[in-house]
Amino acid sequence: MADPPRRQRPAGPGGAAPGDRPVEPPLWEQLAEQHAALPQGERLQKVLAQRGYGSRRVCEDLVSAGRVTVNGEVAALGRRVDPEHDRVAVDGVPVPLAAGLVYYVLNKPAGVVTTAKDTHGRPTVVALVPGEPRVVPVGRLDADTEGLLLLTNDGDLTYRLTHPSFGVEKEYLAWVDGRPSAGAVRRLRDGVDLDDGRTAPARVSQPQPGMLRITIHEGRNRQVRRMCEAVGHPVLRLVRVRIGPLRDATLEPGTWRELTPDEVRALYDATKT
Ligand code: URA
Repeated sequence: MADPPRRQRPAGPGGAAPGDRPVEPPLWEQLAEQHAALPQGERLQKVLAQRGYGSRRVCEDLVSAGRVTVNGEVAALGRRVDPEHDRVAVDGVPVPLAAGLVYYVLNKPAGVVTTAKDTHGRPTVVALVPGEPRVVPVGRLDADTEGLLLLTNDGDLTYRLTHPSFGVEKEYLAWVDGRPSAGAVRRLRDGVDLDDGRTAPARVSQPQPGMLRITIHEGRNRQVRRMCEAVGHPVLRLVRVRIGPLRDATLEPGTWRELTPDEVRALYDATKT
């Protein structure tokens, strides 16, 4: 570590005497100066690299390019952060730093409810993932719906993924009664009138007769079921296969895994406004 700067004794009225030696500042002052120069927190590029933003070199470039802010201010290279308290964002998208944040993706089986407790004693999704730290489901799937469900204790991400203003896409496979005509598919695409209003345009295709692939970005109650019902094709089986950028066709029903830092980052990215 660099020596603390030495101070010269102020020259007296007659100027410094020849051979005058620099005077040590008092110990408390030296310690205060050393403390101020001490590295506080972790280097920003290291923290970003650990959160999946690329190698440290790539993260240094992100910082140098002015794309990273700490507590709302553009960070300079060499900046250190306190992961527990500082708010870091890349391109305006928050980077979750606090220790203890966990992110699970569960392949929810049919018959399991998305509430914390069920009055009918049915199994709940929270009972299928570790109990500590406590996590909550991000949004809801009906008891009969299967497929991907996130659970986390990151309130910010939960808010972003569920609030309609962020409009994160969710993709479903719906096996329906009958074989929807091209007209029925078009109606689903354009928007159908439900009792809580017309649905926003959706992406809809029919990869197999009687099986629809439906992508929506609203999160209304039982939306896909009600849409299909409205065009005369009640849903027989419904599976969510994608949440924003997140897919996982390998997760067995009833099992879960932790998200990778890359996946968490991609989810935050998907909520960029
Ligand atoms: N749409 C539905 O109808 N049910 C779900 O569980 C999710 C989306």
